[in-house]
Amino acid sequence: MAQTVGVPKELAEDEKRVALTPETAGRIQKLGYKLQIEKGAGEDANFSDDAYRDAGVDVVDNVWDSADIVMKVRQPTEDEAGKLGEGKTLISFVWPAQNEDLVKTLSDRKPHAVLAMDQVPRISRAQKLDALSSMANIAGYRAVVEAANNFGRFFTGQVTAAGKVPPGKVLVIGAGVAGLAAIGAARSMGAIVRSFDIRPEVAEQIESMGAEFLFLDFEDSGDDGPDTGYAKPSSPEFREKQLALFREQAPDLDIVITTALIPGRPAPKLWLEDMVKAMKPGSVVVDLAAEQGGNCDLTVPGERTVTDNDVTIIGYTDMASRMAAQSSQLYGTNLRHMLDDLTPEKDGVPNVNMEDVVIRGCTVVKEGEITFPPPAVSTSATPKAAAPKKKEETPEEKAAKEEAALKKSNTTTTALLLGGGALILLLGTIAPPSFMQHFIVFVLACFVGYHVIWNVAHSLHTPLMAITNAVSSIIIVGALLQIGSPSIGVMILAALSVLMASVNIFGGFLVTRRMLAMFQKS
Ligand code: NAI
Repeated sequence: MAQTVGVPKELAEDEKRVALTPETAGRIQKLGYKLQIEKGAGEDANFSDDAYRDAGVDVVDNVWDSADIVMKVRQPTEDEAGKLGEGKTLISFVWPAQNEDLVKTLSDRKPHAVLAMDQVPRISRAQKLDALSSMANIAGYRAVVEAANNFGRFFTGQVTAAGKVPPGKVLVIGAGVAGLAAIGAARSMGAIVRSFDIRPEVAEQIESMGAEFLFLDFEDSGDDGPDTGYAKPSSPEFREKQLALFREQAPDLDIVITTALIPGRPAPKLWLEDMVKAMKPGSVVVDLAAEQGGNCDLTVPGERTVTDNDVTIIGYTDMASRMAAQSSQLYGTNLRHMLDDLTPEKDGVPNVNMEDVVIRGCTVVKEGEITFPPPAVSTSATPKAAAPKKKEETPEEKAAKEEAALKKSNTTTTALLLGGGALILLLGTIAPPSFMQHFIVFVLACFVGYHVIWNVAHSLHTPLMAITNAVSSIIIVGALLQIGSPSIGVMILAALSVLMASVNIFGGFLVTRRMLAMFQKS
């Protein structure tokens, strides 16, 4: 029988999001589910009860008793967990690693399943369910909005009648989902954006968004654990280099947005007190990692503070909730996709298939048993294994190789000479002597020409160009020898040869030069 999905009103203070929107309601009903929502649950996100009713959702006082599946945003409180009925299903953020007691309370209620939206593995197939990414994307955008709101100047540079305005300079530390969204927002407002991340593979993404990647020339020897799609801790030496780079940048920056995080660990301290002190008055630091302790020494989680040197530090932990309509829509869509995966038959009955790597990853309780942590999943973002380094040859090996190559080439030349000699002897028995004289000169010219051309050092732009230039040069030498000929025809032909071969040589250089210029920064 079709089950009922119920969405309660969020209890946490400052939580304005809701797990269902009128738009996602229509999609969930197509999967065969009936829907309920608590009165006023969507009000803070600008979704009225009437809008839900119009979408076919029952508006009720309480969903915990009547619904078979409860969907919410924030991790349930102990009180809410106690209301989860036997055999029911809960889908929400849970943070099982940080909330062992909560997971225990939930499993004691003997539910059918508890699925944690924060545990979606970072693999391509699961992107549509990845609530952490969709919320981080909003947080990154909102970080720039908050920064702009607290920064007393333009982001973009301007030249006006009233004077010249320099563009704002923004540094984004950590170019994951939130960082890249922040780069995109700051760039679109016209700021100069720089970014740093411990994963050098994100340099291309940073640059493709119009920001400058701050490169650190350092081979890290940090943790090399299994790939999870997230960063791994760096070594202390790397950290020192990184801090030196930030220290150098600090006096030049107007805005710093920090998003650096390694899941399951406290946020690394990267923007230290002395860096804040080195910033200009009026600058802003937005610390998105505030909830995990913050990347900045001076961050107060959930607060906006101003330092003695007039630098504003924003540690809000509810960035996504500050854009409740947008974040509810995206989170609701993530939940809709989760239900889609759980209901392949579209019969309104969830199938928590533990063979499915995505569902397995999210399931923290199944039939009353705790199933967290799941087995490790290798992500599709795994960088290709580095090609094995070619073994360096010793000088003896190099000499032996050269000698073998020389021997091989000598044997080939001898065979060619012998074969060619036999052919000429054969031809000599039948051809007239005048032909033979010219023929031998021709054969020798081919032989010498071949060796001269192929032995030209490829110090020019391309091997092909080196060879064609060598051919043209031989043509010019031949033509110069003939240009003084008494025959007017020979003279014209020789002059034409010199002209055409010269066009080939100089034209080649000109074309190459223009091609190279296309790849050079002006
Ligand atoms: P992510 O894992 O995609 O990105 C984090 C990035 O930080 C990675 O690219 C990683 O390589 C980088 N990183 C780690 N250690 C670093 C170091 N020492 N130096 C430089 N880079 C380093 O995470 P995502 O989803 O982008 O989230 C970023 C932060 O935003 C997290 O702290 C998350 O909790 C927070 N967040 C905050 C919200 C708020 O309301 N304040 C809302 C949503 C997310």
